[in-house]
Amino acid sequence: MLKMEAVTKTYNHRRPAIDVLSDVSLEITQGDFVSIVGPSGSGKSTLLLMLGGMLSPSAGRVEIDGQSIYDLAPDQRAALRGRKIGFVFQTFSLVPYLSALENVQMPLLLAGFDEQDQKKRAVRLLERFGLGDRLEHKPCELSVGQQQRVALARMLANDPGVILADEPTGSLDPETSAQVVGFLDQMNQDGRTVVMVTHDPGVASRAKRTLKLYDGRISHGGTMNSISVQNETPM
Ligand SMILES: Nc1ncnc2c1ncn2[C@@H]1O[C@H](COP(=O)(O)OP(=O)(O)O)[C@@H](O)[C@H]1O
Ligand SMILES: [Mg+2]
Repeated sequence: MLKMEAVTKTYNHRRPAIDVLSDVSLEITQGDFVSIVGPSGSGKSTLLLMLGGMLSPSAGRVEIDGQSIYDLAPDQRAALRGRKIGFVFQTFSLVPYLSALENVQMPLLLAGFDEQDQKKRAVRLLERFGLGDRLEHKPCELSVGQQQRVALARMLANDPGVILADEPTGSLDPETSAQVVGFLDQMNQDGRTVVMVTHDPGVASRAKRTLKLYDGRISHGGTMNSISVQNETPM
């Protein structure tokens, strides 16, 4: 279970200070599949980073499975994040000089697996994403869609219960994008919670429900299939 209680975020290390979110509360139960939509600059990435334990709120609480994560010491919070959360970014954030295999091994190395187990598990994951014949390729030697699949494989390495995806299809063509959403859907069917930020109404509609951000606040929509994301008047 992910929970935000009266969360406010102001970026105030630059002038002018920017109030991004005000008094946002939400609950996402285990196994849910939620999309987050809203105009550019509305705070979607900020919200996702705070949910995942990567960015402290200015006020309010964020809980993962009942644990108030920003009350933890930074190293404890990092450990919790490593155990429970998988991130996917629009820009994949693969390490450019490592092979696909090494990129997927990285979180396993950090989690203390020995090298043989790292390799075995990383190969299995890459095969699952259809990249069994691209193990030694560097990111720049892969197509954009293949890079995103390496990022998905790496994200699954630690078997996270929660997946946070920020515009995971933002750099992909429609076909590749549909494939990535299909993978996220599969991960949700495996029982993982998926929270996905997206600009694309078609992609958003694949989630079980949609949250809309507008002007620093969140509105809780119903199931998305019947609602148009683009045309709905905010709040
Ligand atoms: N690290 C930061 N420092 C200062 N301002 C930021 C920072 N990150 C984002 N912002 C500002 O906060 C607002 C929300 O950004 P963001 O969460 O990235 O929105 P979105 O993902 O919906 O496009 C924007 O106005 C942006 O300029
Ligand atoms: Mg963003």
